[in-house]
Amino acid sequence: MSKSVSSYASPSIACVAVGAETIWISPFFTSPQQDHGYDVANFREIDPVYGTMDKFDKLLNEIHSRDMKLVLDLVLNHTSIEHPWFKESASSRDSPKRGWYIWRDGRRPEGKRPPNNWNAIPGGSAWRYYENTGQWYYFHFLPFQPDLNYRNPEVKEEMFDTLRFWLDKGVDGFRLDILHTIFEDKDLKNNPFSWTLTESDKKSASLFQHHKYDTNLPETYDFVLDLRKLMNEYEPERFLVGEVFGTLNDLKKYYGPENNGLHMTFLFEFTSKVLSFKPKKILEVISKIEQIFPPPYTPTYVYGNHDRDRYISRFKNNVQKAKLLATLQLTLRGVPYIYYGEEIGMSNVKFNLKASEDPIGRKFSKFPFPLISKLLRFSLTRDRCRTPMQWNADSDTGFSSNPEVKPWLKIADNHKEINVDNEEKNPDSLLNCYKNLIKLRNENICLQEGLFEFFNLEKFKKKCIAYKRIRNMHEIIVYLNFSEKGLLLKSFKPDPKLLFSTKANRKKVLNEKIKNYFKLNPFEGIIFQ
Ligand code: NOJ
Repeated sequence: MSKSVSSYASPSIACVAVGAETIWISPFFTSPQQDHGYDVANFREIDPVYGTMDKFDKLLNEIHSRDMKLVLDLVLNHTSIEHPWFKESASSRDSPKRGWYIWRDGRRPEGKRPPNNWNAIPGGSAWRYYENTGQWYYFHFLPFQPDLNYRNPEVKEEMFDTLRFWLDKGVDGFRLDILHTIFEDKDLKNNPFSWTLTESDKKSASLFQHHKYDTNLPETYDFVLDLRKLMNEYEPERFLVGEVFGTLNDLKKYYGPENNGLHMTFLFEFTSKVLSFKPKKILEVISKIEQIFPPPYTPTYVYGNHDRDRYISRFKNNVQKAKLLATLQLTLRGVPYIYYGEEIGMSNVKFNLKASEDPIGRKFSKFPFPLISKLLRFSLTRDRCRTPMQWNADSDTGFSSNPEVKPWLKIADNHKEINVDNEEKNPDSLLNCYKNLIKLRNENICLQEGLFEFFNLEKFKKKCIAYKRIRNMHEIIVYLNFSEKGLLLKSFKPDPKLLFSTKANRKKVLNEKIKNYFKLNPFEGIIFQ
């Protein structure tokens, strides 16, 4: 199973250099790009904005020749309104494709109120009235992304054939977009009210609505078992990771009753704005994940993605803190996901909401900014975390070798200092820290597969966390100092061998004067065996 996954806008070379095993690419299928590829108009063609099928085949070959894997991003839940299926479905109540989407009469008077109270994820009713046929269609995300109706067997068959199309080409797996919304209650019962504003791991609720009847339905849990069966038809083994939201226990159900569902789901606990740099909180989250997803379940550790603010910005771009968190992410039990640019410390970039590329940004430009910013789980405009990869100090930061080509979003002001070229030359850079950690992980089966156990640090527990990974007789020990002060700690091992430190020049572990003690520098993370 995957050792580490990286999501990259400009893939393979960078991933090879950083040491990631698997690349996940956001959707590149034919699309009107209203949601930058998450609104698909043909699931089996490449949008010319991104390339051609020949280029795709070449990319896949190149990736495989480097002993790496490619994961595609598949949007099973919805299509674009520009998809020929939707156009056909919307054309008349008698269309043969009418039942491919969810159409309903509105509530009285005169059907001009949506069929029920369901909210779309970014807010507002999840129904849109369609004048031509006098009915409403359902969408879980944005109005131009109508949900497919999986109660219709033709839809399931078609989408499973789409998976086969890409699997036959040799792709290694899929990241499944908002998979928890595949099925809806068949009677479309109203969702109950909830006092919850933003989503959390306590309840599947947001914007004052408990998503009881529109997400995480038993039918969806059964659906993933069928998906897995389809994947099992292929050799070598293929891989499924779900983007699903709910409580950790809801998420666990996607792994299947006998671990025969998805291989893993994203666990977004570490992307949350409320997760502070406090060891106690971090320890609580990891303990909970370990408790709910013990072996053979595979947890995932995610700090950011194309929908979330960049994690280093939460810590005022402090590179020492980023190195410490990278050490944590790459030494835990589970699969680490690295979003492109995290490894060099790319930060959020400010954008004007009205001029935002991201439709979510434009939607929120109508509301009072500071209030909304505090409340939402999505970044106000996801443009902030989607700026071009910072390769070098050039004005287009290495986006293209063709000077005529303009990057689709502006370049971050800090690209002159924060870029791959600079960081490659500096042994103490964040990039080299990531590379060393990934190399260590790739070479060390105990870090990939070992069991996980915390040490009790008693009086240091407010400042530091320590744990070990254990496989057969082999142990790896990790210490992470979250405080800005140095700490003198007793070693759990008499003669530890240093494998890694976030301080590039650290040579020894143990203190020469005090037997069996060692010093952890401010914000230092070390790994030894
Ligand atoms: C989740 C994706 O991560 C996001 O980028 C997209 O806009 C929505 N799903 C809708 O597909």
